[in-house]
Amino acid sequence: MAIERTHIMVCGGTGCVSAQSLEMVDLLKSKLVEKGYDQEISVVKTGCFGFCGQGPIIKIHPENVFYVQVGLDDIDDIINEHIIKGRPVERLLYKEPETQINLSKHDEMSFYKKQYRIALRNCGLINPEDINEYIAFNGYEALGKVLAEQTPEQVIETVKASGLRGRGGGGFSTGLKWELTRKPVADQKYVICNADEGDPGAFMDRSILEGDPHSVLEAMAIAGYAIGASKGVIYIRAEYPLAISRLQVAMGQAKEFGLLGENIFGSDFSFDIEIKLGAGAFVCGEETALIHSVEGCRGEPTKKPPYPSIQGYHKKPTSVNNVETFANVAPIILKGAEWFSSIGTEKSKGTKVFALAGKINNVGLVEVPMGTTLREIIYDIGGGIIDGKEFKAVQTGGPSGGVITKLESSTTTSSGGLKLAL
Ligand SMILES: Cc1cc2nc3c(=O)[nH]c(=O)nc-3n(C[C@H](O)[C@H](O)[C@H](O)COP(=O)(O)O)c2cc1C
Ligand code: FES
Repeated sequence: MAIERTHIMVCGGTGCVSAQSLEMVDLLKSKLVEKGYDQEISVVKTGCFGFCGQGPIIKIHPENVFYVQVGLDDIDDIINEHIIKGRPVERLLYKEPETQINLSKHDEMSFYKKQYRIALRNCGLINPEDINEYIAFNGYEALGKVLAEQTPEQVIETVKASGLRGRGGGGFSTGLKWELTRKPVADQKYVICNADEGDPGAFMDRSILEGDPHSVLEAMAIAGYAIGASKGVIYIRAEYPLAISRLQVAMGQAKEFGLLGENIFGSDFSFDIEIKLGAGAFVCGEETALIHSVEGCRGEPTKKPPYPSIQGYHKKPTSVNNVETFANVAPIILKGAEWFSSIGTEKSKGTKVFALAGKINNVGLVEVPMGTTLREIIYDIGGGIIDGKEFKAVQTGGPSGGVITKLESSTTTSSGGLKLAL
């Protein structure tokens, strides 16, 4: 097998795909073959880099040169100048608006400087359609660790102690939800992943599933082990075709590798996942409505109690968790509860992913420690309001969230979409 000296990472998130990034992958590959470089240089299709407003994005490793707004016409220059002559293509570098300096490394850009990536750790880094790349970045190690070394109660204790709270909006303790679902005795229990993501302007969950589907599959299996469930369901809106196809590829590979299905890692634990498509009704993101929809009934919420943890899917104990919540689980198992709870604020631990949309300069996806102020997100990371206009309002957390008109004391909590209005 050839060892590649260079990796050309091309964003394969929906935003960049809609601007021909997949055609760029094909063109790069054929040009490399034509020039005889295909053995030493690989082209990798990744998930979203986050800086969607500057897409399509191409990043070249190991130099870490980050190219923005790349077009099909730029591919020749990338090959001839960067790959062959070793000279970065200056006109494709990001120009920092304040200093007007061209920056080649993403970590020098103000968009990335204040970010801390846990849920998005692999997005823009690995090929989401290749399980080997996920495994190379410690993928499925957390699942192996819990099955080999921990009881379900210990897993629940770790997740509780980490302070992880649901990222779907309710902010309920994930470890406590798992404990409440573990307690009842039942012949069958379920893990449901809520990938309905109905909030306007929000695309956090879609990007995680497109960029790192295995992180969600692995966490669902860990949840299954913790609560005593052998079946999982991912409820995802049909308007997310790329996320659905990447999930299907990931599930097929995980089964092939024995990481989903019967006797995972040779243990007594078996866990399988199926995908159910939603029709895109906002209300079906609410967990009881979601469960009715998965059952084939009308997607209407019903009164709680009974909570899904006692009586959920098919009236069996069910833990419903959000995509981003799941994406935090494997790092917590591997790095420990203390590590996770050291990030964020006293009451809100860890990070939060935000989709920045609306009249903001840097449209995209960001992940910041809990407690980061909205001012920092909008001005330092988001680059402020288009044309330097005055701030009017920001809408956070979708219809159930609020419209904030003053930024003085607003800090991030667990809601996810940020939409700026002018
Ligand atoms: C009207 C309404 C819509 C909701 N939409 C979503 C959604 O799109 N995605 C989501 O994860 N949670 C949504 N929720 C929250 C879910 O009911 C549930 O609390 C969540 O999926 C639990 O996962 P978590 O504990 O990981 O946050 C919604 C709640 C309400 C009331
Ligand atoms: S889709 Fe390419 S950077 Fe987000």
